[in-house]
Amino acid sequence: MKVALGVCGGIAAYKACEVVRSLQDAGIRVQVVMTAASQEFVRPLTFAALSGEKVITGLWHSGGVQPNLDSAIEHISLAQSIDALVVAPCTADTAAKFAHGQADDFLSTLYLATSAPVIIAPTMNVEMLKHPATQENLSVLRKRGVRIVEPGSGYLACGMVGAGRLADPEEIVAAVLATLGIVRDLAAETILITAGPTREPVDPVRFLGNRSSGKMGYAIAEAALRRGGKVILVSGPVALEPPERADVVHVETAEEMLRATLSRASEANVIIAAAAVADFRMRIGSSQKIKRNGPMSLDLEPTADILAELAEHRRPDQLLIGFAAETKDAIENGRAKLRKKRLDAIVVNDVSNPEIGFDSEQNEVTILTANEETAIPRAEKSKIAHRILDAVLKLKTRSGKAVPAH
Ligand code: PMT
Repeated sequence: MKVALGVCGGIAAYKACEVVRSLQDAGIRVQVVMTAASQEFVRPLTFAALSGEKVITGLWHSGGVQPNLDSAIEHISLAQSIDALVVAPCTADTAAKFAHGQADDFLSTLYLATSAPVIIAPTMNVEMLKHPATQENLSVLRKRGVRIVEPGSGYLACGMVGAGRLADPEEIVAAVLATLGIVRDLAAETILITAGPTREPVDPVRFLGNRSSGKMGYAIAEAALRRGGKVILVSGPVALEPPERADVVHVETAEEMLRATLSRASEANVIIAAAAVADFRMRIGSSQKIKRNGPMSLDLEPTADILAELAEHRRPDQLLIGFAAETKDAIENGRAKLRKKRLDAIVVNDVSNPEIGFDSEQNEVTILTANEETAIPRAEKSKIAHRILDAVLKLKTRSGKAVPAH
């Protein structure tokens, strides 16, 4: 999703930085559009650095030197590509332009050109806000369907006390997310996710591994973050960029994954074990590279069962979700693992199908709980991740393991 964030000239312009960050935390791309006056308060560079996007600073001139033909038509392409236009802070002047359809800068032109929902957070001096002209403008906008995040009361930068303060960035972001239908239903949860394979050394150059790419576990991490959750991601060696806001612990072997998960488990209300942990390791690894004419058999021993250890040490308010990678009798085997590992749910996938499961973009799973079986048809792993998280929330509500929101 993509949002254009209009920033107008007011002392509260700096608070738009927090709005940018929070929208990004919800997985939204933010294109900042600054009015000329706002650039007196905050430098475009600040927003460019925060948003990772070029900041739009004018309709005709970029940097006030050369006509910028790109931006002359940019308002139309941007208007068509955004899911919402947010203006925070919105000055009396910009509200008046919007109400009267005046289009003399990029932001007011964008407002006229877009059919996306518009949310504005006005801020101004108390008398300016009370003025019938401003009130009429806001009322016109309200009637047109513009969502207004009402200003709060308090001490204003002009020295007066009263209504006119910019609403809290959290309130502005909540209004945007509600408008876009984005839920933050995991805001109260800390979710520990294991992902990827483990590697068990054979000798200094070789290891026992498996085909897990980490995509499933990373998709769950990304989805949980978007829904407001705090994520601890214990990751085996993968070639993926971890989600920016996840607390990532990199591990290599099953033993390291065991230690990392056990040491962080007490912080989590939900544990989801999507990692493909090696089931065997060398009883005694070779300290030297094994030669072609060396021993041709490997003496193996089982690794620790991480889920079993987690079940042993779990807190009563924790939910424990496992995965089952099966090649036949998937549901039957999954149900046996659910019971044996004392899990609240298990996500069963058929890893004999090369189009799903290991190292594919898609998956197709069945979520088993003690008394339910929910088949999730084939979809991108990001979508499957959301369905798994839906199931987690359902389990929480049923089991009373929900924790109050912070
Ligand atoms: O990473 P991708 O390429 O996206 O592929 C996704 C996946 C196929 C790896 C994933 O969807 C999946 O099925 N993960 C579990 C793989 C697995 O090891 O399944 P299992 O049936 O062998 O193990 C059952 C459960 O016990 C798993 O939750 C596993 O994390 C856990 N386990 C296994 C072995 C072990 N020593 N300790 C464990 O805790």
